[in-house]
Amino acid sequence: MKLLVTGGAGFIGSAFVRLVIAETAWHVVNLDKLTYAGNLENLASIASNDGYRFVHGDICDAALVDSVVADERPDVIVHFAAESHVDRSILSPEPVVQTNFRGTFTLLEAARKHAIGRFVHVSTDEVYGSLARPLEATEEFPLNPSSPYSASKAGSDLLARSYFVTYRLPVVITRASNNYGPCQFPEKLIPLMIANAFEDRSLPVYGDGMQVRDWLYVDDHCHGILAVLEKGRDGEIYNIGGNRSLPNLEVVHQVLALTGKPESLIQYVTDRPGHDRRYALSSEKLMRETSWRPVMDFETGLARTIEWYRANGAWVAHVRSGEYRTYYETNYTNR
Ligand code: NAD
Ligand code: DAU
Repeated sequence: MKLLVTGGAGFIGSAFVRLVIAETAWHVVNLDKLTYAGNLENLASIASNDGYRFVHGDICDAALVDSVVADERPDVIVHFAAESHVDRSILSPEPVVQTNFRGTFTLLEAARKHAIGRFVHVSTDEVYGSLARPLEATEEFPLNPSSPYSASKAGSDLLARSYFVTYRLPVVITRASNNYGPCQFPEKLIPLMIANAFEDRSLPVYGDGMQVRDWLYVDDHCHGILAVLEKGRDGEIYNIGGNRSLPNLEVVHQVLALTGKPESLIQYVTDRPGHDRRYALSSEKLMRETSWRPVMDFETGLARTIEWYRANGAWVAHVRSGEYRTYYETNYTNR
């Protein structure tokens, strides 16, 4: 089997590509634009594998996407490529709409034209919006996105679903909760707090820090996507959660404890506009229909993640140079 993976140089996409190459005999073609978030260092361990090929390009480029699909004839498309950060989507929504909505459209069109056997659209629990306790979103919950990022993902989910309903393109949609693990760009909560703690820099907690997220180790997410790819039913949506809900402040406390740094590094800063208070996800459907379960407990996963960042200082220094500094100043100065 051959997979066309989009966004395979990013955090989750690269973990998925490494997993597929390690655990299956499938071939992978990775189409990635290499934005600030794409990093081929994430794929160094498999780059020379005979079953792997990299194509540098934009999923919004219809001619390129069509020629890659026509030439490679993949059996399956697994679509990760996205502008994935909520704060950036608030500062600059245009690329988010372009890649997340228009890019998904371009891929769906190529998949339809070339009659692709399965289209796995990787989405997020953020499309359900903020949920009051004790609700947990099932796949039937209404879409209620708050940020340009989550709205663009919700829109792309609807477009993907329409290709199943209208054209019978075999689409399956996954909606995962907050991922963490190695190779995550240090704009997201956990790697940002780890990188800052290492350098004794302040840890910027938005608002009161009591917003709740459900934490999913990246390899558990990738195994969930594999389960959906192999056993999911056409036209269906599958939630993939970590079953570990924590307030942000608790996560930050754990990072400080594991890095041996003082709580005085915590700095409360102005809240994110439109900040969703609580995400909560039921993965009951995926667990019922497949043997998938999230297996990593948060404490072990966080310790492992911190050790990865400690051992990969060069990776961190590289991705935090250049563009990251401008972003950091824009998002955090005067907050
Ligand atoms: P990421 O930002 O780390 O990586 C995104 C990748 O997509 C990068 O390699 C980037 O170069 C590539 N890309 C961006 N625009 C592109 C374009 N126009 N054409 C081709 N490639 C492009 O993102 P991530 O955190 O790995 O997220 C991957 C997917 O998973 C996204 O669709 C995201 O919405 C979804 N998701 C993420 C999380 C999470 O916690 N990170 C949770 C649920 C769902
Ligand atoms: O829920 C799934 C989503 O999780 C994915 O779809 C997104 O791609 C991914 O970025 C993530 O979105 P969040 O906005 O939840 O993740 P982030 O790491 O940016 O923030 C997590 C929480 O931490 C959120 O409540 C905001 C807060 N936060 C974040 C940062 C970067 C802070 O308090 N301070 C910070 O500096």
